[in-house]
Amino acid sequence: MHIKVILFAILISFIFSRKIRLRKSNLMHIPLIQKGQRVQDAIKQTLDSDIKISFKLSSEEQEFIKNQNLLLDHLDRLQYAFQIAYIPLRNSYNAQYFGQIELGQPEQHFEVLFDTGSSYTWVASSDCHTCKKAGVKHFFDCEASNSCNYLNKKIKLQYGTGKAEAQFMIENLKIASFLIQNQTMLILDELTELKKFEGDGLAGLGFDTLSDGYPTLIDNLFTQNQIEKKEFSIYLTDEYIKQNSQSKLILGGKLDNLGDHNDQWHYCDVINNRYWAIQGDHVSFVSKDGKKRRSLKSIQPIHNTLDEKSDILFTSLFVIDSGTSLIVLYEKDHQRLVEYLKDFGIECYDSIQYQGITECDQANIDEYPNFEISLCGKLFTIPPEKYLLCSFFQCYLMIAPFDQRVSILGDLFIREYYTHFIQESPRKIGFIKTVQN
Ligand SMILES: *[C@@H]1O[C@H](CO)[C@@H](O)[C@H](O)[C@H]1NC(C)=O
Repeated sequence: MHIKVILFAILISFIFSRKIRLRKSNLMHIPLIQKGQRVQDAIKQTLDSDIKISFKLSSEEQEFIKNQNLLLDHLDRLQYAFQIAYIPLRNSYNAQYFGQIELGQPEQHFEVLFDTGSSYTWVASSDCHTCKKAGVKHFFDCEASNSCNYLNKKIKLQYGTGKAEAQFMIENLKIASFLIQNQTMLILDELTELKKFEGDGLAGLGFDTLSDGYPTLIDNLFTQNQIEKKEFSIYLTDEYIKQNSQSKLILGGKLDNLGDHNDQWHYCDVINNRYWAIQGDHVSFVSKDGKKRRSLKSIQPIHNTLDEKSDILFTSLFVIDSGTSLIVLYEKDHQRLVEYLKDFGIECYDSIQYQGITECDQANIDEYPNFEISLCGKLFTIPPEKYLLCSFFQCYLMIAPFDQRVSILGDLFIREYYTHFIQESPRKIGFIKTVQN
């Protein structure tokens, strides 16, 4: 009898602990849809200016994308792993990746951009007509939710390309199976001059220094015991069809099977308390055979290279921003680096058609050098197929200029290198070449 009771107790505690474990291991399935272009939310609060990039797609390209999206809808995006949450990211044109969250009671659904470059989480109010104009499709109704509470406080967000006005509210937020209670977030009343925002809102993965000290999603996931470590990782892909190569946000840590087993994790210290920013040693164009190299170097690079010709980087601060589509270089660095392409026989100039985009006359992608960046001592290479978009007559650089003294490695970079963000101090960002399927 005694033994039975004890066994029963053990069994119960086993089931109970398993339950807790299972709860922790629930994956975040937020299919992120990548759409259109993104406005540079990352820098919006401290820096005035923004970069906005728009592409006109040909009808064939549009058709191609549409088909890929249809395929995506039929994929099962649910995956599970121990103590880690996934958010499969859906990718539509390598521009922005969106995932799903639920708010309130009863639940209201939203597609949000998971953004390491900002820290507030926001959705739009149905009174926000300018949000509708900007492209927001789903609006949050606080009155319809039993758990929503307005704080008597407003905030103005400054974008380079627009402005937003919002109210603070406290609401319960669900990401896949994780429930965050009492998340302080924003509900937008006004969004001006901002065009073509393809999601419903934004989920900030930055530090609380950019959310006026209010706990961020990651902070709350941790304090409410949904994740064990204040960590997450982002794996992005532009392959739609292969199931195991889907884009994901993984909450609570990293997954080693998403990194190329021939590569090793390389971690850099975060050197800024507002942004996920690290030290860059140099950016270069390097011929495929490695013989010709043109670089811009930081004053004290950890990793040095031999160049016939090189110059000094104006900024060696590189922000890793999932909310930016491209690689963005401080314009003074961008301009000189693009000049260097002449030494590879390639002439480039500002595109007249696409504002903020650099266009090059060489349409043969094989003629281009690799783009290379060294981050706290390790070289990362981006081949021309990845940093160019080519037509029959010219190529467009997906490395864009920015008028603020900061450079940004966006989704283009993250697609090549699976990225692990560690928020607990000492803050670090790790990279590994993404697994090649
Ligand atoms: C959320 O707020 C409600 C109401 O104020 C409170 O009862 C509950 O304990 C809070 N939950 C957390 C996790 O802070």
